[in-house]
Amino acid sequence: MKLLEDKIREDGTVLPGNVLKVDNFLNHQVDTKLMDEVGKEFARLFKDEGVTKVVTVESSGIAPALMAALHLDVPMIFARKHKSLTLTDNLYTASVYSYTKRVSNDISVDKRFLDPNDKILIIDDFLANGQAVSGLLEIAKVANVEVAGIGIVIEKSFQKGREMIEEAGVRLESLARIASLDNETVEFVTD
Ligand code: G4P
Ligand code: NA
Ligand code: NA
Repeated sequence: MKLLEDKIREDGTVLPGNVLKVDNFLNHQVDTKLMDEVGKEFARLFKDEGVTKVVTVESSGIAPALMAALHLDVPMIFARKHKSLTLTDNLYTASVYSYTKRVSNDISVDKRFLDPNDKILIIDDFLANGQAVSGLLEIAKVANVEVAGIGIVIEKSFQKGREMIEEAGVRLESLARIASLDNETVEFVTD
């Protein structure tokens, strides 16, 4: 998506450790018009898949997921993060390990909001190692719901997430794909 790539080039900053900082339009302050275009693009890509709900993880996935859900005319669910869960009878849960933060979080979705007739579209802001997406795929499996696909705003193609999703056999659409962040420069995947 050209608009997004241009925005990343203009407003993104590369930090040491292969981290792309985009907190001025995606991860803290949010560019609403850009997010609207992101949502439109996800809706265009997945419109024929019979999506009944869009699912993400709080907090940075919420903005793109909300816009995708709006344009697909379905509800959006954000899985909640917890340090660890005790009472889980009414929840679908999964454990998510973050390599960057070196912590595990449980994520959960209330059982009332997913049923076997649902077909979900998973949306997230970043795909790095794919741990958040793995957690949502696990929740989908336990909830017995079909996964129409995965939509990512910014994929770090040099990390392991894409490979994991391809192995799982799920459709993946990333609006920007970053090949490298070496030398503090953003290189996009060219295909
Ligand atoms: P993974 O889900 O793909 O495995 O991500 P990983 O554990 O590697 O990263 C942990 C968190 O850091 C995730 O956010 C992920 O979206 C974010 N992240 C990974 N690489 C980058 C990057 O280059 N730039 C930015 N800005 N974020 C990155 P999270 O813990 O789920 O937090 P939240 O922001 O959604 O609350
Ligand atoms: Na995220
Ligand atoms: Na994030």
